[in-house]
Amino acid sequence: MSLESKELRYGIIGTGMMGREHIRNLLAIDNCKVVAISDSNAPSRASTAQLIGSARQFSDYREMLSTQDLDAIVIATPNQTHFNILSDVFDTGLHVLVEKPLCTTVKDCQLAIERDVQTYRDGRVVWVGLEYRYMAPTKRLISEVSSGSCGKVQMVAIREHRFPFLDKVENWNRFTTNTGGTLVEKCCHFFDVMNLIAGSNAVRVFASGNQDVNHLDEIYEGRTPDILDNAFVIVDYQNGVRGMLDLSMFAEGSKNEQEISVVGSAAKIEALITESKVRVGLRANGAQGVQEFLVEQPQGVVAGFHAGASFLEHLAMQNAIRKGLKPEVTLRDGLNSVVIGQAAHLSIAEKRVVEIAEFI
Ligand SMILES: NC(=O)c1ccc[n+]([C@@H]2O[C@H](COP(=O)([O-])OP(=O)(O)OC[C@H]3O[C@@H](n4cnc5c(N)ncnc54)[C@H](O)[C@@H]3O)[C@@H](O)[C@H]2O)c1
Repeated sequence: MSLESKELRYGIIGTGMMGREHIRNLLAIDNCKVVAISDSNAPSRASTAQLIGSARQFSDYREMLSTQDLDAIVIATPNQTHFNILSDVFDTGLHVLVEKPLCTTVKDCQLAIERDVQTYRDGRVVWVGLEYRYMAPTKRLISEVSSGSCGKVQMVAIREHRFPFLDKVENWNRFTTNTGGTLVEKCCHFFDVMNLIAGSNAVRVFASGNQDVNHLDEIYEGRTPDILDNAFVIVDYQNGVRGMLDLSMFAEGSKNEQEISVVGSAAKIEALITESKVRVGLRANGAQGVQEFLVEQPQGVVAGFHAGASFLEHLAMQNAIRKGLKPEVTLRDGLNSVVIGQAAHLSIAEKRVVEIAEFI
């Protein structure tokens, strides 16, 4: 049977908040099935059984990989586990979507890329879950920029003002050793979008940030969380584009959780993510000429926690699998988003400008 029409059989590794979002997406897509799930935590498996009782359950993902007839794997386990699990999945030759961040360090991202090459199989799709680029207003902004309406892009500013980190299973997200640090864990999404809009590679980073407000009164086995909750990160790109991330995780009183602003030689283009709006303002037309559009995901998209973006990510990945195409979000994209975050953490720690060449 050709891949075009075959039912794709999925195994999910890690069925916490994000693993279950993936399952809900896959349940809503024709011609694919979640046949097996694995999670080391019994309550996570029990919650998943309520969603998809027909899937076989495993506490050890290696047993699932060795005993199940599968086509594709989704890895949605805590960040610090991605490298080892991805390496085991590479050995099977199955298609795989690995959640962001690809790994917690640049070094592990590079090793993951090497492992992919060593275990290469023609047609295998390896996809990194950087799905923010599929949010409707972000997608529209990216297409405006690519169509040239902005002129030559010069400045990309991304603001995320939101609520603190959510509770997770065993609250693994409270420590930098598990996550890679906030600017890797959370902000790889924004550095990926920034990279895409800049159309170039980052060359240096300067950042200021700290953990000033959140999680300071929590204690886990005698340790207080060490995760940064606000930062400014400035990024220089090879082609002269300047990027800036403005992150606050104690800003529940924000109308938009994320805003993106791109200023080019001919226009300013903005995306207001929560309001799902895009504004295009040509310099020639001034403030009075700014046009504002409401941009919504098409009908039938499962919204989930990410405004439909993770659903669209699966459609795009399945299209690549079925048609033998390259992934739209590659391991290299995963690495290029992690390296800015890691460089920003180093910049904060050492109070200096950090060159990307120090890592890559
Ligand atoms: N793309 C996005 O927008 C997005 C959003 C949230 C989380 N994430 C990513 O998804 C991943 C999971 O995050 P989450 O929010 O679902 O966390 P979570 O804590 O809710 O779930 C993680 C699950 O993985 C399980 N797990 C841990 N180690 C395991 C192992 N070795 N084998 C099998 N299961 C294991 C845990 O028991 C838990 O059930 C993280 O990498 C996170 O960064 C991505």
